[in-house]
Amino acid sequence: MAAVTTLSIIAAIGSAVVILSGQQNAQPNGHGCMEIDVADEVSHPFYDRDYFARYFGELNYTVGIFGKHLNGGNPSFLPEGVDEMLINGGGSFLNPEFVVSTRNSLPPRSVTFDNCTATTGFPCYSTSIIGNASLAWIERHIAANNNMDNNAKPFFALISLKAPHIEDGPDFPKAIPAPWYENATVLESIAPRTPNYNCSVEDHHWLAQSQHPVTAKEAEEADKLYVSRVKSLMSVDDMVQDLVQVLEDQALLSNTYIIFTSDNGYKLGQFRMFGKAAAYEDDIRIPMMIRGPGIQSNVSSTLMGTHVDLIPTLLGMAGQSQIPATMDGRNLANCLIGEEDTHCEFSDSSVLVEYLSLGENMVRYNHTFDVYNHSFNALRFRQSHANESSVPDHWFYSFDSSGPNVMRDMKYVEYRNSQIDRNAMHSPLEIEVFDLERDPYEMSNLRDVIHPYLLGLLQEKLQRLLRCQGESCRQEHNSGVDEG
Ligand SMILES: *[C@@H]1O[C@H](CO)[C@@H](O)[C@H](O)[C@H]1NC(C)=O
Ligand SMILES: *[C@@H]1O[C@H](CO)[C@@H](O)[C@H](O)[C@H]1NC(C)=O
Ligand SMILES: *[C@@H]1O[C@H](CO)[C@@H](O)[C@H](O)[C@H]1NC(C)=O
Ligand SMILES: *[C@@H]1O[C@H](CO)[C@@H](O)[C@H](O)[C@H]1NC(C)=O
Ligand SMILES: *[C@@H]1O[C@H](CO)[C@@H](O)[C@H](O)[C@H]1NC(C)=O
Ligand SMILES: *[C@@H]1O[C@H](CO)[C@@H](O)[C@H](O)[C@H]1NC(C)=O
Ligand SMILES: *[C@@H]1O[C@H](CO)[C@@H](O)[C@H](O)[C@H]1NC(C)=O
Ligand SMILES: *[C@@H]1O[C@H](CO)[C@@H](O)[C@H](O)[C@H]1NC(C)=O
Ligand SMILES: *[C@@H]1O[C@H](CO)[C@@H](O)[C@H](O)[C@H]1NC(C)=O
Repeated sequence: MAAVTTLSIIAAIGSAVVILSGQQNAQPNGHGCMEIDVADEVSHPFYDRDYFARYFGELNYTVGIFGKHLNGGNPSFLPEGVDEMLINGGGSFLNPEFVVSTRNSLPPRSVTFDNCTATTGFPCYSTSIIGNASLAWIERHIAANNNMDNNAKPFFALISLKAPHIEDGPDFPKAIPAPWYENATVLESIAPRTPNYNCSVEDHHWLAQSQHPVTAKEAEEADKLYVSRVKSLMSVDDMVQDLVQVLEDQALLSNTYIIFTSDNGYKLGQFRMFGKAAAYEDDIRIPMMIRGPGIQSNVSSTLMGTHVDLIPTLLGMAGQSQIPATMDGRNLANCLIGEEDTHCEFSDSSVLVEYLSLGENMVRYNHTFDVYNHSFNALRFRQSHANESSVPDHWFYSFDSSGPNVMRDMKYVEYRNSQIDRNAMHSPLEIEVFDLERDPYEMSNLRDVIHPYLLGLLQEKLQRLLRCQGESCRQEHNSGVDEG
């Protein structure tokens, strides 16, 4: 096998709305959680200026984009830097439709994949169509590049799947597994009963406070949904296995970064609610796994990052340390590659979590999970207190009988009505503060317990994160709350 000098990247994203612009606070356009200003025109600034592919194109990467892209405003053209695409807004699990195109040969057109019965005996299945298309593209790329010899162009494949999204309809919501896994058995039979499952929380945001207990019928429905989701992920496992096999067969596995991450989490009874859209860890924390050159195996990192850091970090892995001007995220490559995450220049870290309500009175299983005044801006941060012997008083609070506690791993949430105050110009309607080190399930709101001076620092830090751009965001992200 010829020596390989190129590093390729596969970013597989289960259940994704893919933005990958590296921007936070994307321009408002309508309402809902997909607050990004895009349109399907070639000349639109988003695809012209912010879309990730051109930056990899400039580094001589060949880019393919496959699967679930934006919910709406998907390009009807090949964005700059993209060689091949097969995308939709999620589509249906069975016999899905995609817009497909290949640079220089196949102009964009809509294709419905409904011809699988003859070969497989089953309808076409979304994950398999996306998996097979990306695999075929990678194999063609390897062949065209002379088995990735010294002068080969590396590739970047973005593979995003509908699974384990729900599909609505009669007897729904549920996810649809591949027809051949219809009767498969899985280990899971009920949704996780975390300590905050079916919990009444008197000191939380009004929506959490006002939930009725989860009934037996609701629990049964949510458990069915959970099992259908696990089954739908069996095809994602198959796809990952096939991808790894192809890379192994081509001796490219040691030269390729594979990143696996996901869309939001989803409550199935936590705080007596169902669905996404909350500021709680169940909704906002997602898996992020990576393998590849320089990445230690089987270690987990406490490093805090968000999707805005993805593209700057992947560019960093591809050797581009300069972050494009419109991007607010950080290049965390140095924190991930090597022995330990001691290469990071910062010990404190803060990230912004934003949500604009989907609408008035959004209900799942007879439980309201979203209303306009449930829009929020949140600050999730770690404050290391480098000198533990001189932690300022305002970081202490008393939470239990064990004596005073110091805050290190926290969340601060401000709720607003997005119809009246979408830009956070007024005082928040409600506030939540959690100590995630001692209270990982967010059972206790410390709003009235923490030092008023700390509350002021939190408010100021959140405002700075909301208003920052580019370099000033990175400074805010790489620091705690005391500085600034
Ligand atoms: C990309 O390829 C071109 C042509 O082979 C070469 O001139 C250029 O230096 C390459 N750019 C990078 C960033 O490697
Ligand atoms: C099924 O349809 C797709 C999309 O038109 C096409 O690419 C594929 O070759 C077809 N497969 C078979 C077996 O005819
Ligand atoms: C390709 O499609 C087949 C049949 O639909 C499926 O069994 C297989 O898992 C797919 N491959 C990938 C990589 O998704
Ligand atoms: C699953 O079970 C049902 C009921 O026994 C049967 O009709 C169906 O063919 C089975 N599906 C598969 C893929 O074996
Ligand atoms: C939820 O809690 C209530 C009591 O608050 C209880 O009556 C109910 O059975 C619980 N539901 C489930 C599904 O455990
Ligand atoms: C990974 O680490 C965990 C805990 O540190 C350990 O229990 C497990 O055996 C390790 N797995 C492998 C494959 O090394
Ligand atoms: C929905 O919840 C309300 C209480 O908030 C209850 O009165 C009503 O019976 C429930 N409806 C169903 C269909 O469970
Ligand atoms: C939020 O809106 C709901 C419904 O519109 C209302 O019942 C509730 O009192 C409001 N809560 C706050 C804190 O504004
Ligand atoms: C840590 O704080 C203590 C108490 O204020 C002080 O005496 C000590 O010099 C500090 N250490 C460092 C390394 O700053």
